Amino acid sequence: MGFAKSFKDGTTPSIAIIGAGLSGICAAIQLQRQLQLTTYKVFELEADVGGTWFRNTYPGCQSDAPAHLYSYSFAPNYDFSKKFVPQSEVLAYLRATAKTYNIYDKILLQTRVSSMQWNEGRKKWILHWVKSATGEEGDHEADVVIHGAGMLRYPKVPKEFDAFKGDMWHSARWNHSVDLTGKRVGVVGTSASGIQIVSTIADRVESLEVYGRSPVYVTPQLNITYNRVWQFLFRHVYFIYTLYRTFWYYYVDSTILLYHKLAWFSAFHRAVVYFVTWLHRFLQLPFDNDLRRKVTPDYELATRRIVLSDKFFPTLKKPNVTLHRDPIVTISGGTIETKSGSKCELDILVLATGFDWISNFPVGYWIGRGGTDIATNWGESPTTYYGTCVPKAPNFFLIWGPNVGIVHHALTSLIELQVMYAIRAISHMLEKDIATMEIKQEAVEKFLETLDRRIQRTIFTTKVRSKCRGFWWGSVTEFWWKMKDLHPERFHVEGREGVNAKSLLNGPRPEREPFEEVD
Ligand SMILES: Cc1cc2nc3c(=O)[nH]c(=O)nc-3n(C[C@H](O)[C@H](O)[C@H](O)COP(=O)(O)OP(=O)(O)OC[C@H]3O[C@@H](n4cnc5c(N)ncnc54)[C@H](O)[C@@H]3O)c2cc1C
Ligand SMILES: NC(=O)c1ccc[n+]([C@@H]2O[C@H](COP(=O)([O-])OP(=O)(O)OC[C@H]3O[C@@H](n4cnc5c(N)ncnc54)[C@H](OP(=O)(O)O)[C@@H]3O)[C@@H](O)[C@H]2O)c1
Repeated sequence: MGFAKSFKDGTTPSIAIIGAGLSGICAAIQLQRQLQLTTYKVFELEADVGGTWFRNTYPGCQSDAPAHLYSYSFAPNYDFSKKFVPQSEVLAYLRATAKTYNIYDKILLQTRVSSMQWNEGRKKWILHWVKSATGEEGDHEADVVIHGAGMLRYPKVPKEFDAFKGDMWHSARWNHSVDLTGKRVGVVGTSASGIQIVSTIADRVESLEVYGRSPVYVTPQLNITYNRVWQFLFRHVYFIYTLYRTFWYYYVDSTILLYHKLAWFSAFHRAVVYFVTWLHRFLQLPFDNDLRRKVTPDYELATRRIVLSDKFFPTLKKPNVTLHRDPIVTISGGTIETKSGSKCELDILVLATGFDWISNFPVGYWIGRGGTDIATNWGESPTTYYGTCVPKAPNFFLIWGPNVGIVHHALTSLIELQVMYAIRAISHMLEKDIATMEIKQEAVEKFLETLDRRIQRTIFTTKVRSKCRGFWWGSVTEFWWKMKDLHPERFHVEGREGVNAKSLLNGPRPEREPFEEVD
């Protein structure tokens, strides 16, 4: 496919990218690589790029996807030290990639986009931004918005913990100014973040109380160190790197079968993984029946994300570590009491209690056509087209948006596919001189029907721990298949001045919304 670089009159669209994490960096690079477009700006509220990997600096933070997969397909890193790398290496990779592709100059750091509003008269998005360092604010007009603001940014802090009077922080806001040495520490949550924290800090603290009311399935991590020979081969024998990455891509993608309920192959797959988790518990806690019982999940395998860890169970055996499976009932001052009556006085409480994605879209943040507050209208049930396009939001592309969470693969794969979809759409706009593209409601309905049908095939319908339409229950390969073609007929389009959109696509002209002006 040949890519146009400009509209017919030689101008190029102004593009605003929100966020400089994996999604935003990918979008910026692909605009340059695929369309040679440089008329974009990236708004990033933090002081540097990296997103999740800039924000999460808790002890033990690391990626659980093979590093060669959890990096862009177009920007190989031959020097990863391990199969699963620590946060510092992912962050270093993202910074280096942003430098290599010269996108730092385009990033406005410490600049938060506080609202986005579609201006029908100008056929542009008006982004209101605020600089956190100076308080300076202003508006920025963009023809196209690529929203890569992430889903795991806002800490979920359950209300009951407000009563705790010692030092307390969330895993994603680690307080490095407090030394844990010799302190009585509590960690709430034993999912991915909690398990990594507990396994790393136990030796430093006087006592560690772990509040894990719902254990997760844990499999061995079996990390591999890539020594200089590996790194040499990756760098100099090109096909080895490509083969290795491709192997992980398809191997990891095949694990989607774990979540499907009917096929005998899936049941077999699940039985094997179930056995591995059982054996892992048994081998790591052979003489601790009580502890083994406490870390055994009471729900079906794979109805939550499986966590990889070689260190968690051995850590729980340490004399200064106690796992509380019964729920917390009272928090008073620095004391936490659980249902069984156990009371612990703590100096520090760490909340590894997850994230609240809906806070990414506060009321008034995202106002689309006709003054529609898009995310507020969604309520608990977002409606998108493959997590990427949204009715009433012309020329707007969500990257890793709602509806397409994936639990089995590296998110980089999904993010790259969504970015390429946006690139295809922008390219189409340039080639056909299109001013606006807005996904049709029918296309969204059809996609949501697919999600509803899909979930019936998964084990999530037996024990629903997740929002029905939150996830894409297919393989990433199938997602690629669905997203590889733009399908322009699924969009309402309007041509740029003097261009009749109807003649371009043979589609009906969209109904016009009332003229919407921005103050
Ligand atoms: C601890 C942890 C470990 C993880 N490990 C894995 C893993 O191993 N494998 C995996 O696939 N996924 C993992 N994830 C999920 C991870 O979030 C994604 O893989 C990926 O980093 C998402 O990238 P993103 O760019 O879409 O979002 P983010 O990384 O969240 O980046 C979004 C960026 O947008 C900025 N931003 C947000 N709102 C605004 C605004 N209004 N104005 C300006 N800037 C804004 C943020 O500051 C941030 O820099 C992990 C998540 C966590 C929390
Ligand atoms: N790749 C990695 O290695 C890695 C590392 C960290 C995070 N992540 C990703 O980041 C996301 C978030 O992970 P996370 O571990 O931070 O959060 P999470 O998966 O949402 O888990 C939150 C934990 O906190 C517990 N919790 C929540 N509210 C509680 C309360 N009021 N009282 C007691 N316990 C409470 C939960 O228990 P209940 O289940 O009982 O509610 C759960 O154990 C996930 O998508 C994960 O995959 C990945």
